[in-house]
Amino acid sequence: MRSEKMDAPNHPLLLRALHWINAFAVIVMILSGWRIYDASPLYGFLFPAEFTLGGWLAGALAWHFAAMWLLAANLLAYLLYGIATGRFQRLFLPLWPGAIWRDAWAVLTGRMAHVPGRYNAAQRAAYVFAILATIIAILSGLALWKPVQLQELTALMGGFETARRVHFFAMAALVIFLLGHISLALSNKSVLKAMTIGSREQAQ
Ligand code: HEM
Repeated sequence: MRSEKMDAPNHPLLLRALHWINAFAVIVMILSGWRIYDASPLYGFLFPAEFTLGGWLAGALAWHFAAMWLLAANLLAYLLYGIATGRFQRLFLPLWPGAIWRDAWAVLTGRMAHVPGRYNAAQRAAYVFAILATIIAILSGLALWKPVQLQELTALMGGFETARRVHFFAMAALVIFLLGHISLALSNKSVLKAMTIGSREQAQ
């Protein structure tokens, strides 16, 4: 069997499946979450109904509660996979603040070439940020879903009202990540191809 290391420029099939299931679940969670928010807004604005999922509160809750199991189980599988194969250590570390700013600036000014099978420091930081935001979204969501049974978790989140705000900001962090992540992915077809059909990328 070929090791993941030998396949470095490709993303292994399992990783690709986990990534796209995650993308589907996160998008369903965000769009149905916006509809749930609109039923009882925390701040002085609503999300436009046409960008929400579920049609009405009960429909949105059904989507949200269905996709949360997919999101949580898939994330758990991804975390176990990343730790067990050494992928996280190999591709996401180290994370030096100086290198993150330097590479982020190089990406923004178009001076960062994509090296197949490697992530630059800004990418590593963005992925770790997205994973942490997803974990916080899940934990604060659980605290809101079962505030009595999981009262220690709800207390850890600062109580029910603070947990709502934590949940909102975790969603906002994921939306900000996604805006950058999707635009960068769409601007580099070989990277997108490697994450979908798994073909080898050309360095560019
Ligand atoms: C929905 C549209 C999405 C697109 C088009 C997309 C595209 C991509 C592509 C092309 C890569 C590979 C980047 C590279 O090799 O340089 C990637 C990796 C990654 N994406 Fe996405 N993605 C999407 C959604 C998401 C979502 C919702 C999340 C998390 C909330 C996410 C988290 C990640 C992470 C953590 C990696 C690195 C995976 C690893 O190497 O272990 N993506 N994505």
